[in-house]
Amino acid sequence: MSEIAKIELDGKTFEFPVIEGTENEKAIDISKLRDATGYITLDPGYKNTGATKSSITYLDGEKGILHYRGYSIEQLAEKASFIEVAYLLIYGNLPNQTDLDVFTNSITKHTLVHEDMKQFFEAYPAKAHPMGVLASMVCSLSTFYPESLDPNRSPEAKDLTILRLLAKLPTLAAWSYKNAMRHPFMYPKNDLDYCSNFLHMMFAMPTEDYTVDPVVSNALNKLLILHADHEQNCSTSTVRIVGSSQANLYASISAGISALWGPLHGGANQAVIEMLEQIHADGGDVDKWVTKAKDKEDPFRLMGFGHRVYKNFDPRATIIKKACDDVLEKMGINDPMLEIAKKLEKVALEDEYFKSRNLYPNVDFYSGIIYRALGIPTEMFTVMFAIGRLPGWIAQWKEMTENNEPIGRPRQIYTGATPREYVSIEKR
Ligand code: ACO
Repeated sequence: MSEIAKIELDGKTFEFPVIEGTENEKAIDISKLRDATGYITLDPGYKNTGATKSSITYLDGEKGILHYRGYSIEQLAEKASFIEVAYLLIYGNLPNQTDLDVFTNSITKHTLVHEDMKQFFEAYPAKAHPMGVLASMVCSLSTFYPESLDPNRSPEAKDLTILRLLAKLPTLAAWSYKNAMRHPFMYPKNDLDYCSNFLHMMFAMPTEDYTVDPVVSNALNKLLILHADHEQNCSTSTVRIVGSSQANLYASISAGISALWGPLHGGANQAVIEMLEQIHADGGDVDKWVTKAKDKEDPFRLMGFGHRVYKNFDPRATIIKKACDDVLEKMGINDPMLEIAKKLEKVALEDEYFKSRNLYPNVDFYSGIIYRALGIPTEMFTVMFAIGRLPGWIAQWKEMTENNEPIGRPRQIYTGATPREYVSIEKR
C-alpha cells in the first residue's frame, strides 16, 4: 500500500500521498496543500522542495552519486564524447552510430552565426565580461530565427532550434573572447570535432598555423561531460521557470547563462582562481585565509568549497582532480596556484569547521586550474561551464515543455505593512 503523510492543522488531519522515484527517493506530494488547508509551505532557497519529476539526472549527495539517464558520470567521463552525452541527455538514450552521425552532421551544418551578429560583438567594449556578451548573444539568436518564438510549433522546429543552439554556442563563446582581445574572429572548421573546433576558434590566428593538441581537446571533452547536467540547480531551475511561461528556448537559455554567472554557482570557477591568486600575492599563508573563511564577521568564503547537495564528496571533483594532475603532468606545467590549491584542500579537509559542515572541494575547485593549464583565460571559465551545461539545460527545457508543466509561480508569506491610509506629502 502506498504511504500517506498526515499533517495536523487547526485540529484537523489532512492526508497527502508519498511518491517514490525510481531510485527510491521519497517526496510528500503537497500539490493540493493550499486548496485543502489554506496553508502554503515556506522553504527559502528551495532546500527541501522538489519542483518537478524528472527522468534526466539522478544524484545522491550523501553517497556522491551522479548519473545521466542511468549511466554513471565515471563511465561517461571515461568513455563517451561530449556530443554522445548531449544526445543522451536530450533524447534519453545513447545514440547508435547512425544516430550519432546524423546528430553530429546536423550540428556541424549550423556552426556559423549570421554575419550581422558580428556587428553586435564589435559594439561591446573590450572589457565586456564574456558571460554578459554570451547571454545577450544567445537571446539575440531568437531575433534571427523567429520560427523559434513559439516553442510548441512542431517537434521538427524544436529540434532545429536545439541543433542551432548546440552548434552556435561555441562560436559565440569563442568570438566573445576574440572580441575582448580585439583579434580577428576565426570561423568554425567543420572537419574538427566539437571540442577541437571550439579550441580552433579560440586560439587559431589567420597569420599562423594552429594544430589542436589532443591532450587539450580530450581534457576539454571530459570537463564538458562533467558539467553537462546537474538536475534542478540554480541555472537549470531558471531555464525551466523562464521556459514555463512558454518563452522561446534562446531566451530561456540566456536566462540560465545569467544565473550561472554568479560566484555562488558557475562563477565559482573564476572566483577560485582569483582567490588562489589573492592568497599567492598575499604571501601564500593558507592558514590565514582558512581562518578568515571561518570567521562569521568576515564575508570571505573559500570559493570552490561546499555544495548545496553534495554533503560527502562531489564525484565530479574526484574525476576532475585526477584529470587535473594528468593534464598538468602531460603538459609539463608547474603552477604555483596548484600548490596553494593543494595546501588549501589539505588544511580545510582536516579542519573541524569544514568537517562538521561537510564542506568539500566541489567541481569548480579543480576546473579553474585545468582551464588555466589549457590556456583558457580566467574570465572565460564560466563560459566554458555554460558550453558544458547547455545539453542539460536543453534536455530539462524539452522535458518541461513535453510534460506541459504549469507556469512556475511560487507564493510568499507577506511580512510588510498592514493596510494604511495614503497621507499627502505635506503631512508626512
Ligand atoms: N567557506 C566557508 N564557509 C562556508 C562555505 C565556504 N565555501 N560554504 C558554506 N559555508 C558555511 C556557511 O557559512 C554555513 O555555516 P553556518 O552553518 O555556521 O552558518 C554552512 O557552511 C552552510 O552553508 P550554506 O551557505 O547554508 O550552504 P548552502 O547549501 O546554502 O550553500 C554554496 C552552498 C552556495 C555552494 C556554499 O557552500 C558556497 O557559497 N560555496 C562557495 C561558492 C562555490 O564554490 N560555489 C560553487 C558551487 S558548485 C556549482 O554551482 C557548480
